[in-house]
Amino acid sequence: MTVQQLVGVDLPIIQAPMAGSQSSALALAVSNAGGLGSLPCAMLGLDAMRKELATIKAQTEKPFNVNFFCHASPIPDAEREAVWRATLSPYYKEFGIDVDSIAVGPGRAAFSSEAADVLAEFKPAVVSFHFGLPATELLARVKAWGSKIFSSATTVAEARWLEAHGVDAIIAQGLEAGGHRGIFFSEDLTTQVGTFALLRQIVQAVKLPVIAAGGIADAKGVAAAMALGAAGVQIGTAYLLCPEASTSAVHRAALKSETAGHTALTNLFTGRPARGIMNRIMKELGPISIAAPAFPLATTAIAPVRAKAESQGSGDFSPLWCGQNASGCKEIPAAQLTRELAAEL
Ligand SMILES: Cc1cc2nc3c(=O)[nH]c(=O)nc-3n(C[C@H](O)[C@H](O)[C@H](O)COP(=O)(O)O)c2cc1C
Repeated sequence: MTVQQLVGVDLPIIQAPMAGSQSSALALAVSNAGGLGSLPCAMLGLDAMRKELATIKAQTEKPFNVNFFCHASPIPDAEREAVWRATLSPYYKEFGIDVDSIAVGPGRAAFSSEAADVLAEFKPAVVSFHFGLPATELLARVKAWGSKIFSSATTVAEARWLEAHGVDAIIAQGLEAGGHRGIFFSEDLTTQVGTFALLRQIVQAVKLPVIAAGGIADAKGVAAAMALGAAGVQIGTAYLLCPEASTSAVHRAALKSETAGHTALTNLFTGRPARGIMNRIMKELGPISIAAPAFPLATTAIAPVRAKAESQGSGDFSPLWCGQNASGCKEIPAAQLTRELAAEL
């Protein structure tokens, strides 16, 4: 079954939800162009979520996707936090930041019953999850009002688990993908597989539609994924320069520069591995640090350094999420990009 048959869109192009880099504007543009637009909710409060969903409902009758993280809430560990702050202390000194003044920064919220209450008012065609699935009764609520459930798998074992737990489609998130790895079975990054290798193995292992994500950046890449058995594609990085995205100035500059060709998985910005463009802090501390507190707690201590650097026009301390193929990033309207991506189908 294709994504078109599953959710009633015209094109098998899913605009990847990208928390922190987009809101309803991008989702609307893609859904109205015949793809599946996505609203990421990991960094939205409940009121903001309701407002964004109302905006989408008011401006389209097309299907759209609403996306949530579903990580277990970490237990704060004072000792680990102290080690993390000590690791960052040279930067606090460089930017004149008083460690005691660091307020709790914007974290990432997991899907909750309160979020489900808001969602129930809108009943989107698709609800997608990253980092596994929410608790059984929460998932049952979402399914009961008819939303189709998508979730990311980064290994064959995760795909089998998602199939056994009632999802309607599996997003095969290859190692090339920008942003957080959806990995939820282990923390072992050696288990992670490239998009086309993962896609073929998951297609053979499950009966569900499989959506390919990671490093797909143009019409030929889309056609190749479909030829390999994908029911659709989920594309993030290529949309980051569209005028409807809210990608920050430092992030846009990095995506347009040659440095976009060098990405790595890093846990420095949130505590969980995510792919971003190599920048100063990733080079100096190494992209993966055992000092970083559990997701999303690492965010707080690094936030003031990031803010100071960004205020000076520098992305040296920012999460510059980007996949391994930024060649499809174009400063063109998202509707046009969506049509271009579908041009060889
Ligand atoms: C800037 C950015 C933010 C992302 N945020 C999310 C998110 O909030 N939720 C999610 O499920 N995936 C998120 N992802 C991952 C995407 O769903 C998808 O796996 C990825 O974009 C596909 O690879 P590509 O970037 O090479 O197209 C993000 C990716 C990027 C680039």
